[in-house]
Formats: sequence, structure tokens, C-alpha cells
Amino acid sequence: MTRTYAIRTFGCQMNEHDSERLAGLLEAEGLIAATDPNAADVVVLNTCCIRENADNKLYGTLGHLKSLKAARPGMQIAVGGCLAQKDQAIIQERAPHVDVVFGTHNVGEAGRLLQRAALEGPVMEILEESDAFPSALPVRRDVSHAAWVTIQIGCDNSCAFCIVPAVRGREISRPFDEVVDEVASLAAAGVTEVTLLGQNVNSYGRDLTRRRPLFAELLRHVGAVDGIRRVRFTSPHPKDLRPETITAMAATPTACEHLHYPLQSGSDRVLAAMHRGYTGARYLEKLAGARAGVGDLAVTTDIIVGFPGETDADFDATLEVAAAAEYDSAYTFVYSPRTGTEAAAWTDRYVPADDVTRRFDLLKVVVERSALAKHEARVGRVEDVLVEGPSKKDPSMTSGRTRQNKLVHFAGQVATGSYADVLVTGAAPHFLRGELVEVTAGPRHRTRIPVSAS
Ligand code: 5AD
Ligand code: SF4
Repeated sequence: MTRTYAIRTFGCQMNEHDSERLAGLLEAEGLIAATDPNAADVVVLNTCCIRENADNKLYGTLGHLKSLKAARPGMQIAVGGCLAQKDQAIIQERAPHVDVVFGTHNVGEAGRLLQRAALEGPVMEILEESDAFPSALPVRRDVSHAAWVTIQIGCDNSCAFCIVPAVRGREISRPFDEVVDEVASLAAAGVTEVTLLGQNVNSYGRDLTRRRPLFAELLRHVGAVDGIRRVRFTSPHPKDLRPETITAMAATPTACEHLHYPLQSGSDRVLAAMHRGYTGARYLEKLAGARAGVGDLAVTTDIIVGFPGETDADFDATLEVAAAAEYDSAYTFVYSPRTGTEAAAWTDRYVPADDVTRRFDLLKVVVERSALAKHEARVGRVEDVLVEGPSKKDPSMTSGRTRQNKLVHFAGQVATGSYADVLVTGAAPHFLRGELVEVTAGPRHRTRIPVSAS
């Protein structure tokens, strides 16, 4: 009988994309996706440790799986991703029913390790580093009109709060032609929107030796691929955002008018302690340049509240920069110490929970105010919308995204992957409401992209 698999992903887009690769690998080995995840023969947990309470979530899920496995001894459990990279042996110690533990650098080995575990019992394999770029692995994508494309893995920065460099390793750029070729083959399969992924996309190419292309060049080439209608990227680091990138965005009609531009803090003192490499003023100066260069630019951000040593005055500076930046939306995070990072050791400077909550709520007010204003300003406009499918809350409605990456809900049914003109009729802080004007393009995709090694 054909074995089935289920993958549970925690964390960011990079992890979701790694999960697509895991699915592709398992399918290449003959497994099929389980319709009921609880009945899967192979369960893979792809973990994250950036800021969530990942340990609790993981061990909670593993506890649940333990009883399933007791009832079905043939079942296999694999744990991969950032937390596995970091905690390695601890996972096997705390959860001996786990068959395979693999790290962020050996996603490609997951299938082989599962086979080995079936014969030999539990295995753990964590590579410190790998030169094999994971994008060369097969991929099974759930969505066939939009795709993530990894252009870089790892990170060479050392932000004091961040565990990524420790678990994802040094920065490696994927060869230029390989990226463009992947986008071309995705487009040939019907994908019309790609999102270029990297921890710090603006330093793309810095480590390439044969030729050192800039990110701007990559953006132009990817944007010119036949069949591609939208290109997005995430995330640029403010210290490395170059005028060339802005010029390339403006000159590339397929490049969407959206910049995810992580602030983290508006206080120069805190930014220095974080090793971010910019000040609040410099951040805003570059932002003004981006807005001047790219018309109708939507700007989103990441902000951390309660970094060790953050005072009320520091936080006020964050509020000021956030207000001046007039964000379309912001991911706001409560600082969470990650063992092994520099700031985690500054226990004497941890901010009391009450202060953090109060600041967090204030920041939310400031961000939602500008988000709502930005959204209200769009009422009355006709937007180009890429249809994502029936609305999750009300299936009689359709949901999609504008070029500015705003979620829009409108009445009626339009096929997933189509493009439609939608008149914006209402605004809320996190979405827009609209009315369908007309469908401008049907979905180009086939119903499902076959598993391929590109
Ligand atoms: N605590 C809180 N937020 C964090 N982030 C990264 N590390 C931490 C941490 N230790 C946030 C940053 C980053 C986003 C991906 O996650 O804002 O931009
Ligand atoms: Fe983490 Fe900073 Fe690298 Fe982003 S740039 S992944 S926050 S170390």
C-alpha cells in the first residue's frame, strides 16, 4: 500500500518553502499526501525558533503524536527545521518516539533518513553547513499561480536578538542563472507571481565569486521573464537597501509596489545595541527615497517591543518613527530571548512585562491608525487583484491581493489564479472590501504543477 505523509509547518515563509521541498522529496519517493493528517504514515514537523514559544508547541504536538504512534507502530515521525538544528539531541532525549531529527542544511536527506530509521531505529543527522542549495530539490507547491523562490539562504548579520545566523548559517546566494531559470520554468507551468526569498535580499550576490550581480539586476531579470506578472521580494535590510534596487523596482513593471522594510526599533540607542547599522533618521531618509522612486508604494515592517534596556524614551522614539513612516501594516513582536543570542544574556536589562504590554498596545494604535488611513485612501480606486480563492470566512465571497499586497474581499466567484479589476468600496485596518468590475485574465496554471526538480 502507498504510504502517506503529513507535514506541519511552524514559522516563516522560508520554512513554508522548505516544507514544499519536503513534500516534493517525499512524493518523489512514492509517498502521497494524507487526506487526514492524523492517519499519516509519516509525519514531519518543520520547526521554527525565531520568536515563538516553539519548544512548547513542538513538545505539545509530539505528545499528541506519541499516542497515535503507540496505536500504529509503523508510523514515523521526523522533526526538522530551525529548532531541530538548535536543539538536536534534546529532542531525541525528550521525545524518544521521534524517528528522525534533521537540520536546516539537510532537508534533502529527510527521505533517506526516514528509510534508514525504518531499518535501524531512530537517527539524528544535523549538518553544520552545506553548499548544496536546497532550491535544487524537488518541490510540491500547494498553490499553482504563485510561488516562492529562494535566492539566498543564511545570514551574515548579527542582530543581537536574532537566532537566524546560528540556525541557518552563513549567507549563501543562489547562482543568478539558476534563479532566473527556476522562475522561467515556474512561468512555463503557469505561475504568474513570484516572491524572491532571502534573509537579507539586498546583499544578494555579495558572496558570488564568478560574477557579482546586484539584487537590482536579479529583480530586473526575474521581472522580465515571459508570463510573470508580479514579482515580490522579502526582506531587504534597511542598512543595505540601495538606490539601484529602488530604480529597478520603478523600471520593472512587474515589480509590485510594496516594500517590507523592517524597522525593529526607532531608538538610535536600541538600534545600536541591536547592531542594526542604521539610525531612525537614516531609515526614514531611505524610505523617503523609496517613496520618491516608486509611486504608490505600500510599506510594511517588523518592530520588536521590549528589547533589553528599552526605556520609555526609546519606545517613544519607535512610536515617532513608526508614525512618520506611515506604514500600511506592521508585524509587531514582543521581544523574546533566544538562548545563544547576544541580547538573551542581558537579563539585568529585561523590560518588565507590564511595560511591554502597555507599549505593545500603544504601538498597535499608531500602526493601525496609519494602516486604516492608507486603506481609506484607496476607496474609489480600481485595483488589479490576483485571486487567491473563496474567502475563508464566507465562501460566497472571493479574496485576492492587490499589487500593494492588500487583502481584498469581494462578492462573487472568480477562479483562483485569475486577475480581476476590483473597485475598492470599503476599508479596514487589515483588509479592503470591493466590487468586481471585470476579470481581466483567467488562471494560466494547469490544475496542479507536477513534481519537478527545478
Ligand atoms: N524576539 C522578538 N522578535 C524577533 N524577531 C526576530 N527575533 C526576535 C526575537 N528574539 C522578529 C524581527 C524579525 C522578524 C522576522 O522576527 O522583527 O524581523
Ligand atoms: Fe536576523 Fe538580523 Fe539576519 Fe534578519 S538581518 S535574519 S534579523 S540577524
